[in-house]
Amino acid sequence: MRKFVKRALEKFEKLENNQVKKILRDISGENELLEAVLYSLEYGVIVVDRNHRILFVNKSSRRLIPLINGDIVDLVVWDAVEDKEISLFLIDSLSKQEKVFDRDFTLGNGHQRTISFSLMPLVREKKIHGNLIYIEDVTEKRTREARLRRAESLASLTTLTAGVAHEIKNPLGSIGIHIQLIQKQIKEKDTIETKEIREALDVINEEVTRLNRIVLDFLFAVRPMDSKPELKDFNILVTDLLQFLKYELEEAHVELNVDLGKIPFIEMDEKYIKQALLNIIQNALSAMPDGGTLTVKTFVEDENVFIEIKDTGTGIPDEIQDKIFEPYFTTKDFGSGLGLTLVYKIIKEHLGEIFIHSKQGIGTSFIISFPIPQKERRLLEFAEEGSM
Ligand SMILES: Nc1ncnc2c1ncn2[C@@H]1O[C@H](COP(=O)(O)OP(=O)(O)OP(=O)(O)O)[C@@H](O)[C@H]1O
Ligand SMILES: [Mg+2]
Repeated sequence: MRKFVKRALEKFEKLENNQVKKILRDISGENELLEAVLYSLEYGVIVVDRNHRILFVNKSSRRLIPLINGDIVDLVVWDAVEDKEISLFLIDSLSKQEKVFDRDFTLGNGHQRTISFSLMPLVREKKIHGNLIYIEDVTEKRTREARLRRAESLASLTTLTAGVAHEIKNPLGSIGIHIQLIQKQIKEKDTIETKEIREALDVINEEVTRLNRIVLDFLFAVRPMDSKPELKDFNILVTDLLQFLKYELEEAHVELNVDLGKIPFIEMDEKYIKQALLNIIQNALSAMPDGGTLTVKTFVEDENVFIEIKDTGTGIPDEIQDKIFEPYFTTKDFGSGLGLTLVYKIIKEHLGEIFIHSKQGIGTSFIISFPIPQKERRLLEFAEEGSM
């Protein structure tokens, strides 16, 4: 409440008539201003009370979504909406008191629009008094985002294709040379030296196997993933993986330092996430050829679960830090350079992010974040409220 109204209410009995009139005029002026602002917004705003009845609806709401004709104030909000899908969504989310951000609906037959809904509780004096429904036309925004995604995937496809072309050039060259050798042998000699021909054919065979591997890896990198995320205990997955690597770590004289925090369940496809973590840990091990310490930590921050994997290895030089996720980028004699490309793809598929901190001679830390699913977030909020 505005301070001047509060003060006026406190000494209401003592106020003169004309003072009351002035305050009323001020309040109604302010009210009009607020209403005018809400009415002229290009976003739709609907305010409902605790029983989901409409308290306020602005003009843009009617422009953005189909509402029934006439005055809809006091109606239960889902009865006022003429689109079945949106009504069902409102029934579901408002009854469960869910916070919703950017839930998209496609409306219209010929000229289709993407309309996005967000729901927020209306909190006054620490109590929920109803909900705020925020409606936005995101057609252009989504088109722009899709265009950007396409451009990004095209750019990464170009890098990938260039990488494959480069990788294929060497084995093809070698195959060519060995075929020429065989041709020369056949042409020049009456008696064929089978030993030399066999050797050349062995090389050709090896190179063909290598080419096959490159093509298979390439297909894996460009095909969409068939991941099936399920709600899982991430700490258990990490513990299993570290148990599996125990002997390898011992052999490499790497000490393990594990600190698993209290974290909610997250959506993941175990086999892919394990593969991603394994690739990171394998890189960490090869960066510590003389042993060292591997630290694995899980924790929660804001609305994400994090895992940090830190080594005390060689570190990554600044100038190659932005290249390490590129396909076929490797500094190792026998590396494929696809390890981190795959990690990146898996993390993105899980809507996560990946960050690196690295200092030459000190070590490298890979930090991955995963969003906490909404259901788990609510449980977390309840737990926090319960502990207050
Ligand atoms: N923890 C780390 N410490 C130091 N350098 C690293 C680390 N992780 C990655 N790198 C650098 O990033 C490069 C790319 O890693 P990536 O896992 O993609 O390929 P790779 O390990 O070389 O080959 P592959 O994983 O296919 O065997 C590595 O060659 C290495 O130079
Ligand atoms: Mg690797």
